[in-house]
Amino acid sequence: MDRGYRNRVTWRLSNRDILPELDDGVDQLMKLIPLLPLIMLAAPGLSAQPSFTRDIQPLLQKQCQGCHRPGGASSDLDVTSYAGLLKGGKRGPGFVAGKPEASLTVSYIAGDTKPRMPMGGAPMDGGDIEKIRAWIAAGAMDDSVAEVSDNKPPVYLQPPVITAIRWSPDGQRIAVSGNREVLIHAADGSKLVQRLAGKAERILSLAYSADGNTLVAGGGTPAQFGEVQIWDARAGKPLHTARLTNDTVFGASIAPDGSRVAVGATDNTVHVFETATGKELYKIGNHENWVLASVFGADSKRFVSVSKDRAAKVIDAASGAFLENVNALRTELNAIARHPKKDVVVIGGEDRYPYVYNMDRPKNMKIADDTTLIRKLDRQDGPIFALDWSSDAARIAVAGISPAVNVYEAETGKLSASCKGHTAGIYAAAFSPDGKQLATGGFDGRLRIYDAANCQLVRSFIPAPLSTGSAAGGAN
Ligand code: HEC
Repeated sequence: MDRGYRNRVTWRLSNRDILPELDDGVDQLMKLIPLLPLIMLAAPGLSAQPSFTRDIQPLLQKQCQGCHRPGGASSDLDVTSYAGLLKGGKRGPGFVAGKPEASLTVSYIAGDTKPRMPMGGAPMDGGDIEKIRAWIAAGAMDDSVAEVSDNKPPVYLQPPVITAIRWSPDGQRIAVSGNREVLIHAADGSKLVQRLAGKAERILSLAYSADGNTLVAGGGTPAQFGEVQIWDARAGKPLHTARLTNDTVFGASIAPDGSRVAVGATDNTVHVFETATGKELYKIGNHENWVLASVFGADSKRFVSVSKDRAAKVIDAASGAFLENVNALRTELNAIARHPKKDVVVIGGEDRYPYVYNMDRPKNMKIADDTTLIRKLDRQDGPIFALDWSSDAARIAVAGISPAVNVYEAETGKLSASCKGHTAGIYAAAFSPDGKQLATGGFDGRLRIYDAANCQLVRSFIPAPLSTGSAAGGAN
């Protein structure tokens, strides 16, 4: 993938080339919503005070980071952090707080100093230049989360976007993504039991081993590194941490027998690790775009990975050999879940339809043949980002840009209920191990737990421990 393309799609949930596709106002909003959460550490601010994290970093990430990042930064300037921007490049600091007119960044993006930045690209939008100017003029406040070198737990001023949720197999705990940590809550919402702090800024996927002993967290720090963390789930102790690629990793899954962990990456491969040692066993490079999710087959011998390249591919988990394509290519795929007992998967992504497929394809089937498709569920109100299949096999949950999670009867494909209450996109959905409840979370930072049968809200809370005085909170 070339650099320019990567700059525009550094974020998992950004749609490639969204701007040319925008057609009407509503669609426009729907397409911009998914861009926001993963390029910000927190839900939208309540104050008008310019924020580095909320207003500035996303601009730099999209338009500047391709050239100004650690490891070969143009003109020695690294804009991937507040500290890097402040330190600046060959010509001095990137900005002077309170003085936009004396700040190199402003001078370069406004074209007062040549070559105008972003170099070789279209000039920055006037409104965006104004944002940077205003932030510097207001004192260039640093509200970014500091790199945790001292293992101090992160401080939350606002509820962070929820990107991953899993229940422990005994149903007692719920693991939820936080900033640079995994938050382990008692499933009844009574308390925060553990905080599993790591170095990765974002946790984008979580998976428990079937025996509940191991918790896998996949994520990383965008444009810097991907990370797979393997935890002793009961003790809350890190067992192994593996870094890979220079971007976050996606869709971590663990084999039912606990032996292996698979994650997708922006290098278009699936990386497979030995759970016991944390050692990378192999990587599989037969996708043509980012790999965003994976799931193992019931016997742990195979797994399926899905990608923005539209393919769901079956891989031999022992050797890493490619076995077969599951689906007819239709749409970029973001999510996958498996039937609790059978090798049947549900996949979904940009075209908004969940597709239920048999993992097994007769050997002599042609590429475009789609007879392994068992069922296509209803079209959703937006792209799909999360799927789960209840362990009693009865239900499939479908979540995405639309702020409602739809629950389907797996046998008939009939919509059984629609879980409402979230105010924006949903990035994680997980059934409780007994199949009776469904936990969901996303952009608004609130975990909601519904009765899976009728979508009645059972309880909801903000999993991140907000620092006192913060404006967020409340009952729903
Ligand atoms: C395609 C690569 C590329 C992109 C994208 C890019 N830059 Fe640059 N940038 C450069 C190069 C190369 C230089 C050195 C130019 C020179 O010395 O003549 C530079 C220099 C700079 C400098 C001066 C640093 C110093 O102290 O020497 C600043 C400030 C800067 N860029 C800011 C930005 C900002 C802000 C963006 C995003 C809006 C951006 N750049 C996007 C390549 C890029």
